[in-house]
Amino acid sequence: MSVIRVRGGNPLYGRVSVQGAKNAVLPILAASIINGGKSVIHNCPDLTDVRISVDILEHLGCRTQYENGTLTIDSSEMTECSIPHELMNRLRSSVIFNGALINRMGRSCTSYPGGCNLGHRPIDLHLNAFSKLGIITTEEHGSITCVADSITPCRIFLGFPSVGATENIMLSSCRSNGVTRIVNAAREPEIVDLQGFLNSMGANITGAGTDVIEIRGVSKFHDCEYSVIPDRIVAATYMAAVVVAGGRVEIANIIPNHISAFIAVMRECGASVTVRDNSLVITAPTYIRPVRMINTLPYPGFPTDAQSLIMTVMSLAKGTSIIRENIFCGRFTHAAELIRMGADIDISDKMAVIRGVRSLSGCSVKAADLRSGAALVVAALASDGETEISNVCYIDRGYQDFEKTLSALGADIERIETVD
Ligand code: EPZ
Repeated sequence: MSVIRVRGGNPLYGRVSVQGAKNAVLPILAASIINGGKSVIHNCPDLTDVRISVDILEHLGCRTQYENGTLTIDSSEMTECSIPHELMNRLRSSVIFNGALINRMGRSCTSYPGGCNLGHRPIDLHLNAFSKLGIITTEEHGSITCVADSITPCRIFLGFPSVGATENIMLSSCRSNGVTRIVNAAREPEIVDLQGFLNSMGANITGAGTDVIEIRGVSKFHDCEYSVIPDRIVAATYMAAVVVAGGRVEIANIIPNHISAFIAVMRECGASVTVRDNSLVITAPTYIRPVRMINTLPYPGFPTDAQSLIMTVMSLAKGTSIIRENIFCGRFTHAAELIRMGADIDISDKMAVIRGVRSLSGCSVKAADLRSGAALVVAALASDGETEISNVCYIDRGYQDFEKTLSALGADIERIETVD
């Protein structure tokens, strides 16, 4: 196990280039089995979740090679259509393999996905969509078996614009003999990236990024090469770090309109943000202004994945802010840890009321999931004294070289390997 130790108080200066997007590359890795050939994926971040996905691909019979941020997958000799629970359980996005396996093999045998504990995370929208597409799913003893001789193209209305369900419908229906239409589809940039990747191997999908996606089924796919979009939540993380720690940083290799909602809130806090074509420069405010009310919403609204970050920033604002978490029911685990650091936060159901304090104080805290872990590191940068963050494995799921990057910007931060 390892911990991250931070001595707070250093402002951040310099430049950071943002990694490829975890939530774009994970469905793309699942999709790579569809063409039964070669997929070359550039700007692939080196993350634990990517390595687990590669373990799944190799379990299925694919050959993989990872070099200088490029992952090459050859799925031509794939034979397997089942994924053991110990692999499924380590990743939320493992559920996406069902759509890709059904497309390639006509069947999948998996189990309920794992991933960050953000409260109840059902997959009913996925399974209902599969049933409409003519996929027979049976669940027993924790396993889910999906079988489809062929896909029945149809119109699917999603009761909630679920990212994963949208992705699973795209993956399973892009090989068919008709048109499937998703209404109330998720509009996240990662959906647009999946459409781009699938079309690069011969699929015919349009509309990603809007709430109606049309998948015109095809019968043949071919080798492909694709570059993954930058990670918008990692970009937001470094922005939040500058606002609380102080300083001025250029954040490069971003797509600014993917983080419009977060940029708007950073400006409302008093930060100066200068946006260029594929970068921005953020300068910390002399003091943090409170943001009265923040609602997490499906894209392009304020992202739930940045909720823990904005709670950290608001903990140090000069006034009171309210956050309403509308996407996940259990996504306030970081609040208890921030309170241990001296924050003044009340939680009631979906609402968090944050009364800003003058400073936070370093202590030992625990990451409970990926984004709460990142938020605790950000809080530690602005805290008096020393903070030790444990369960760093959560942070490693989504952040490549997190502490090295912050150290290069001037933070007093290090990773310490502990003997268990
Ligand atoms: C994706 O999760 C992301 N993960 C999450 O990022 C992100 O927070 C989430 O989308 C929302 O943007 C990946 O892409 C790997 P959803 P996903 O299906 O697909 C409910 C991170 O930190 N729901 O859009 O699981 C669900 O319970 C991670 O990088 C159902 O009720 O999200 C939740 O309340 C965390 N039934 C809401 O919809 C279903 O069948 C959003 O879920 C599916 C979802």
